[in-house]
Amino acid sequence: MDYFKIARDIKEKIDIVDIVSFYVKDLKKRGKNYIALCPFHSEKTPSFTVSREKQIFYCFGCNNGGDVISFVSKIENISKIQALKKLASMAGIFIDNIKLEEENPYEKERKLIKQINMEAALIYNSMLKSSEAKKAIEFLKEKGIKEQSILNFMLGYAPSYENFLYNSLSKKYPKDILIKTSLFSTSFGKLTDVFRDRIIIPIRNISGDIVGFGARTVGNENPKYLNTQENQIFIKRRNLFGLFNSLTQIRKERKAIIVEGYFDVILMHQYLFTITLSTMGTAFSQEHAHILKNYVDEIILMFDSDKAGINAAIKAADISIEEGLYPKVIVLEEGIDPDELLITKGPDAMLNLINNALDIISFKINLIKKKNTELSPDKKNKAVEFICDTIAKERNEVIRMEWIKNVSKEFSVDESIIKKIVLQKTKSKNISIQKNQITLIKPEISIIEENLIEMLFKNPSLAEILKNGFEISYLESEFSKKIVSFFIGLKDTLNLEEKLISQYPDYENEILRLILKSQNINDETVTPENFKKTLLIIEKNYLEKEIKKIKEKNISSLEELKKYNELILKLKNINLSI
Ligand code: UTP
Ligand code: MN
Repeated sequence: MDYFKIARDIKEKIDIVDIVSFYVKDLKKRGKNYIALCPFHSEKTPSFTVSREKQIFYCFGCNNGGDVISFVSKIENISKIQALKKLASMAGIFIDNIKLEEENPYEKERKLIKQINMEAALIYNSMLKSSEAKKAIEFLKEKGIKEQSILNFMLGYAPSYENFLYNSLSKKYPKDILIKTSLFSTSFGKLTDVFRDRIIIPIRNISGDIVGFGARTVGNENPKYLNTQENQIFIKRRNLFGLFNSLTQIRKERKAIIVEGYFDVILMHQYLFTITLSTMGTAFSQEHAHILKNYVDEIILMFDSDKAGINAAIKAADISIEEGLYPKVIVLEEGIDPDELLITKGPDAMLNLINNALDIISFKINLIKKKNTELSPDKKNKAVEFICDTIAKERNEVIRMEWIKNVSKEFSVDESIIKKIVLQKTKSKNISIQKNQITLIKPEISIIEENLIEMLFKNPSLAEILKNGFEISYLESEFSKKIVSFFIGLKDTLNLEEKLISQYPDYENEILRLILKSQNINDETVTPENFKKTLLIIEKNYLEKEIKKIKEKNISSLEELKKYNELILKLKNINLSI
């Protein structure tokens, strides 16, 4: 019995409307659908919609959506498998516990990718003992990295030849799954290793699975770091380097330190600051804060003291506050990373910095006071605004009041005035997200591409038309590219929505929004003719864009001129047929 079969049986026996109304008060019928105030974010007018016909829910306010299984999983904060089991037992369906987790084919694929990553990490790790790794070992020594840290973080070395890893793994795994690990690049059907002559830093998720890698040059090549390309298991805005190694300690201390680099994390751990983690070169995200909120109350942001570092710290602090964390900031001496500080000045100097970390408001106040000894009224006004931006994000009354008092004292401005400014900012921001809730990211997608996808949902057999010369590259958004490719590869339409969502769990909400929207289009407009016309318009947009690109940078070769003429000709033909 597989996941889809059980999900289908559940949906036959249980109505999503009944389940939702068990958790959500005042579900009201509105047209074909039911609406209510969303249980996933706070709102005054209902944007939460349930469709009995489609057996799905979607919130137009926070973009949360799914089928009855996702609903139970989200509202009870349990895994989908757990929700499935719960609903199955309600419906009186027997399921074989042991097999279930492996039956979802996409879950199986994700597991396999993690397994391959783990094998790759072990292979890379063993290479540190080889003679080729001499320079790498030297580099690690120079950084001050001890044997124990190499073990703790499973560091490794990728030798310089182009198919070292491929040769080790290709005997055991088929090509198509190897491609999905993002460890290889393809050109003309040939796979070559992405990481060559680099120190390998495995990145583990919260369960310890290896989801991706960072790879640093040993010499001075650019870029200094290569990271695994994002894929179905490696999503930078959702993973934190060092989280797995920090987990026990951050739970205990209820705080975490965020640094900027991989080696900063590794050395901090080596010197027993085992609550340290970092992002992977991207900004600290709302998702990062959301994940950390499960374990800590306070985060200490340790950033470089240059302008970029300070701005990054302030942004990260604001995001943390919105997720209910209490942020503190440490800025380091310019150009000295935490790893260097530990080596040159020792762990006591670090401890001293940590103990003297300033909360974000004191930090902002200091920032202004350092720059100006005397504040003109105009500058004072700007300074107060700048600080109140952060205070307005805080929802805890006590913390807010304390901060307001501080600012009032520091700038000799009446408390009541500061309070008023904060209140105005709070209102204009309209902070609608409840504590511990998150607004999901919506991909950018043009109206025409949205129409195309809606038509496909309404009538999947239209996908046949896509096979006559339409190219995926005509589409602009990554999201549309994925969805349209899915339809092209579709063999039968059974469980279409589930299949699509299992393959792209990240896009679940957007997929459901479009399915719901597609319900409202008139059947008569979804004709092959209209579909073809939509495809032509998309191709036309694409051609115009390409032509513009070539024009802008001037035609410099015969080849470009040929391409330009081809595009113009194609465009002419299209204009004739629209
Ligand atoms: P830094 O450039 O500050 O490097 O980038 P670093 O960590 O101090 O490097 P070391 O100490 O010389 O080894 C900070 C982080 O930004 C990401 C990496 O996660 C890095 O640790 N980064 C940086 C990249 O992803 N790619 C790059 O080319 C550079
Ligand atoms: Mn560094």
